[in-house]
Amino acid sequence: MGLVNAKEMLSKAKAGHYAVGHFNLNNMESVRAFLLAAQQVQSPIILGVSGGTAKYMGGYRTIADMVSDFMDFLEITVPVCLHVDHGTFEEALSAIEGGFSSVMFDGSKYSIEENVEKTKYIVGLCRDRNISVEAEVGAIGGEEDGHIAMGECADPKECRAIADLGVDMLAAGIGNIHGKYPADWKGLNFDVLAAIQRETKDLPLVLHGGSGIPDEMVKKAIELGVCKVNVNTECQLAFAEATREYIEEGKDQQGKGFTPRAMLAPGLEATKKKCIEKMELFGSIGKA
Ligand code: 13P
Repeated sequence: MGLVNAKEMLSKAKAGHYAVGHFNLNNMESVRAFLLAAQQVQSPIILGVSGGTAKYMGGYRTIADMVSDFMDFLEITVPVCLHVDHGTFEEALSAIEGGFSSVMFDGSKYSIEENVEKTKYIVGLCRDRNISVEAEVGAIGGEEDGHIAMGECADPKECRAIADLGVDMLAAGIGNIHGKYPADWKGLNFDVLAAIQRETKDLPLVLHGGSGIPDEMVKKAIELGVCKVNVNTECQLAFAEATREYIEEGKDQQGKGFTPRAMLAPGLEATKKKCIEKMELFGSIGKA
């Protein structure tokens, strides 16, 4: 099976009251780790690509080709969606050209009128190409690839204006932030989440900043309509920790332990393990 858009996997998740994990690619090892994780536990998966990753990994077409070829090579049979994460207008257009099966256009930094206008244009382009679209209302806090925002709660009426454009999923700020949560974080705002879902009817909602949110809050968000959860930082931390352990144990100084493949293998394995742990929390295991 080649890349698929996110529509079917999210509508099944909505009906089955679980969520599909969106895991951010950072390098080749992450492609391999996430594909193997999804296949092993028979879960659908969404691979997210930020603007920074797109630049690092050779652009959208290179990544789309790499992921598709890897899927053939590893004989991946579960549904895999390749998705732009927080795309600017230009990034969304490049990814559409480059063969991505799904895009997020993040117009949250614009006025709601401009966000509506630009999102509408992207939806039109994607509809013709069978590409799914995620939009955003109310900036998600924290820092990701130089994109910095304070956590804020989206206005449910504005969410409706964007939902009515025919987007397939909506990211709406409910107090969530990217990266590590500060000790005095107030938690997710479930009243706002419920109001957003009421206004947007059955539209699949997306929870960004999925790292470090207590499990019970993630489960409650899924009950209230979230069916895509984005995770990046926790996988990066798992990779870093496993790599540090390898070096601290002096394994790079034993035999051929210095080769890049050997040095990155523990990080790859830790990323895969973390991914499976999250899939279990989201309830997507066995749902391929
Ligand atoms: P974390 O890095 O906090 O997991 O957030 C990931 C994310 O939301 C990607 O869009």
